[in-house]
Amino acid sequence: MRRRSIAVITGLLGVSLFASGCSNDASPGASAAGGTAVKVAADCPLAAAPDPGNSKPATDVAAATDAPKVTKKAKYSVAFSQNASNNPWRLAETASMKAEAKKLGFQLTVTDANNEQAKQIQDIKGLIAQKPDAIFVAPITEQLGNVVSEAAAAGIPVFLLDRTVDSNVAKPGKSFVTVLVSDFVQQGQRAAWSMAQATGGSAKIIELEGTTGSSPAIDRKKGFHEGIKACPGMQVVVSQTADFTRSTGQTVTETLLQSHPDTTAIYAHNDEMALGAIAAVRAAGKVPGKDIKIVSIDGEKDGLKAVAAGDLFATVESNPRFGPKAFQTLQEYAEKGQVPVELILEDQLFNKANAESNIAAAF
Ligand code: AHR
Repeated sequence: MRRRSIAVITGLLGVSLFASGCSNDASPGASAAGGTAVKVAADCPLAAAPDPGNSKPATDVAAATDAPKVTKKAKYSVAFSQNASNNPWRLAETASMKAEAKKLGFQLTVTDANNEQAKQIQDIKGLIAQKPDAIFVAPITEQLGNVVSEAAAAGIPVFLLDRTVDSNVAKPGKSFVTVLVSDFVQQGQRAAWSMAQATGGSAKIIELEGTTGSSPAIDRKKGFHEGIKACPGMQVVVSQTADFTRSTGQTVTETLLQSHPDTTAIYAHNDEMALGAIAAVRAAGKVPGKDIKIVSIDGEKDGLKAVAAGDLFATVESNPRFGPKAFQTLQEYAEKGQVPVELILEDQLFNKANAESNIAAAF
């Protein structure tokens, strides 16, 4: 199950996360990158194209029919296996799950895998033994299919949050009920479009990848590379993982800037790595946003501040506030016995035009 939009959730998170509307109205255009005019390469149609926009709903909505059922109750006892607590995005997701469980009076057990796959597998096995009504899993990588299938075999419905697992190992709608996820390919394509706006279609790019084997790292790379194919002058000169963390983003960028001193742009799969990269660019005596254009994904508070300051050109939203929709989906599944096997969030884009006004509401 790799990136086919099945059902887009508009306003999915049930909260007014950001004050402004869709980014399609907020694009500064190639001529206004960071407030300065950028020369647009003639062979880069992407630089002159409109924002590719949010993910689109698809019509072929498959329903989860073969996963373990949930008996309808007023209050549920549920578990959440979080993969890490090492960045604001993860903390915001966990906080959203806790807040919604509290609001609904559900009993919620949370485990933290500390960014270790082996620990997350053990965490989930421990949760299966506790026999909750449902287990929500934010998988560290796509390699967690076997343990997800174990939960289903034990009669416990699993709901995947924010990342998926290998569908050859764990069948959607059977081994797990559904996955609530952003359209990571689309995020990568919007990042590519933003990079074309920032650079005019001519760039030597360092790519900082997320955790190896995770859905966002796989799909944000795919979407970005698909996007920049339209512009031969935009080249990724080196790609390396920085594990979605700020400190690794900084050290990896420091090293890569030494081996690639002609770098003119950085694409980071999340804001934390971009913020580390900004520090590394400064440490190399260069000016972020001027000498080196940077684009990333998430829309965290520090990311939006960096956009407002001109250090970061744009950040594509990846909304972590899953709590309301996660529990609403559980209740709907208990009520109707089926939900779509994939639910896509609709994210927006933050750039110079709307970053400042969204800082207060960001995570
Ligand atoms: O799966 C979503 C990604 O995971 C976020 O972009 C990142 O910050 C987090 O760790």
